[in-house]
Amino acid sequence: MSVAPVAKHPVPEGYEKAHVTPESYRALYQESLSDPDGFWGREGRRLDWIKPYTRVKNTDFMMGQVSIKWYEDGILNVCVNCVDRHLPKRANQTAIIWEPDDPDTPARHITYAELSEKVNRMANVLLSQGVMRGDRVVIYLPMIPEAAYAMLACARIGAIHSIVFAGFSPDALANRINDCGAKLLITADSAPRGGRRTALKSNADAALLHCSDRVRCLVVKHTGDQTTWVQGRDVDVLALMEHASPDCPPRPMGAEDPLFILYTSGSTGKPKGVVHSSGGYLVYASMTHQNTFDYQDGDVFWCTADVGWVTGHSYIVYGPLANGATTIMFEGVPNYPDPGRFWAVCEKHKVTQFYTAPTAIRSLISQGTEWVEKYDLSSLRVLGSVGEPINPEAWNWYDKHIGKGKCPIVDTFWQTENGGHMITSLPYAIETKPGSATLPCFGVRPEVLDPTTGAVIDGNGVEGVLCFADSWPGQMRTLWGDHQRFEEAYFQQYPGYYFTGDGCRRDEDGYYWITGRVDDVINVSGHRMGTAEIESALVAHPKVAEAAVVGYPHDLKGQGIYAYVTVMNGVEPSDELRKELETWVRTEIGPIARPDLIQWAPGMPKTRSGKIMRRILRKIAENDYGSLGDISTLADPGVVDELIENRMNRG
Ligand code: PRX
Repeated sequence: MSVAPVAKHPVPEGYEKAHVTPESYRALYQESLSDPDGFWGREGRRLDWIKPYTRVKNTDFMMGQVSIKWYEDGILNVCVNCVDRHLPKRANQTAIIWEPDDPDTPARHITYAELSEKVNRMANVLLSQGVMRGDRVVIYLPMIPEAAYAMLACARIGAIHSIVFAGFSPDALANRINDCGAKLLITADSAPRGGRRTALKSNADAALLHCSDRVRCLVVKHTGDQTTWVQGRDVDVLALMEHASPDCPPRPMGAEDPLFILYTSGSTGKPKGVVHSSGGYLVYASMTHQNTFDYQDGDVFWCTADVGWVTGHSYIVYGPLANGATTIMFEGVPNYPDPGRFWAVCEKHKVTQFYTAPTAIRSLISQGTEWVEKYDLSSLRVLGSVGEPINPEAWNWYDKHIGKGKCPIVDTFWQTENGGHMITSLPYAIETKPGSATLPCFGVRPEVLDPTTGAVIDGNGVEGVLCFADSWPGQMRTLWGDHQRFEEAYFQQYPGYYFTGDGCRRDEDGYYWITGRVDDVINVSGHRMGTAEIESALVAHPKVAEAAVVGYPHDLKGQGIYAYVTVMNGVEPSDELRKELETWVRTEIGPIARPDLIQWAPGMPKTRSGKIMRRILRKIAENDYGSLGDISTLADPGVVDELIENRMNRG
């Protein structure tokens, strides 16, 4: 179904012109495809280079030889590009506005001068702890300015950071520390969120029991909560920063040197360490931040994501700071102390661009518009959506009640692997349709492929799987320590293409509509989860014999987690066991992975070769069991009736 494009929004008064116009979008997009070296050669100059690049693009998508290099002989420092180079003009401009969880605690306005001082001090602390170029530093912090200082300090000395979302469990943290061989962990005493506190340091203590005893632990004393202290391993980072020099020479880095690793879920159990580069990544984050949000001098940009996710990397820290922007970092949640918090913060800091996830919008819709109407939202100019398809109901509410019909909505489709936006509308340049991510960003070459034959489906009004036919500078370079898995995961299924794992439709106007994952990855409240990861957590429980996890439609979360569990012989399924398993998954992975529904399954629908037929489990979980298709290949078709009979989702 194709919805007529919504009337274009005019550039508001006070803004001379948008970065991209309908005409320039078309011309630049064409140029970016026909002359990538020319286009990206010019875009690359948005950064300051210590030694300018002479070669722009050098990429190959062929299986067995996948190699992605951009600006490969250029030398730069990412921290200098995000901090130092702004000092002549912007020393007294606010770089980061920190809005604490507790609305009664004053916000902090950190200028570029102050940011520079803190980052330099932290960089010197890292050096004093023996962190060297190329070493990995894991960051497990709340949404506090120190998280940004730590990222930039790593970039300054050429260390590779890997942020682990503070909602992850000790086990998940330990796995990531071990996988990347981190030398150092940076954490805080505790993380306040929504009025509650997570004991981060004790999680870190538990994680470090499973790591090399050479891993040191820098602790930010943020809340002052009591923590245990391991002499010789734990270090009070703020105390050291006070005594450190505010001057740390930046390390010249190759454009292709890794900037960070970020773990994300795949279709197999083990999270994948996505590796991003220094030069290409920053060019892409900076360009997309500027164009997608039409960021202009003096704007106040707010991305509500957590720095533990890629959205926080690219659109709280790297993109905005590379552009000399003012960026908000919010420690709290949308509904604390009440469901008006987002709008209170927008009014308080006169936010111009607001970027959030559909799941947050949906949860606020159910609270009523009185929470919105209390606040003056007239500063808002552009609204953004990210992380999952936005349903038209949420889109229309966002448009009407938050944007007051005046703010273009940019629905940004992209992935951890992409570094920045891939398909999105552009304010004032690309007309929107509620629910469509619209058109590709510069340099992005989307193709719709037949999922079975892999043939490219040309023309409009078509549906298939979404691939990209060529590289863009923000593309991930490899999986940490496993280039072969990188090739297999993204380039094997459709040779010559990067495969997103998403299905999509290209409508009659050539607009893209993402229809969701076609692999065993689900999207819960905008968080990406591998079903295999949850399954391995479940089967690790002594009472569980077998588990299969699928997604099902959930009004608030987009998708919910539906687990089929077969218990061990002699174990009696019960509500207590259900609770026990929920808690188990929370501790194994983290609260975001807790199953919403657990169905006891005396048997799983399996083929004669023993493979679980997930297609059937998905249908039952979706309460759409009327069209199960061919089940004659099942070893025991009888189990299906039993599963339907006892299905948990009858909505
Ligand atoms: O399925 C797509 C969905 O989120 C997946 C990527 O998840 P992650 O790597 O965690 O990154 C999320 C934030 C960049 C995609 O494969 N997705 C992301 N944005 C959209 C989306 N689906 C539809 N519309 C979007 N705007």
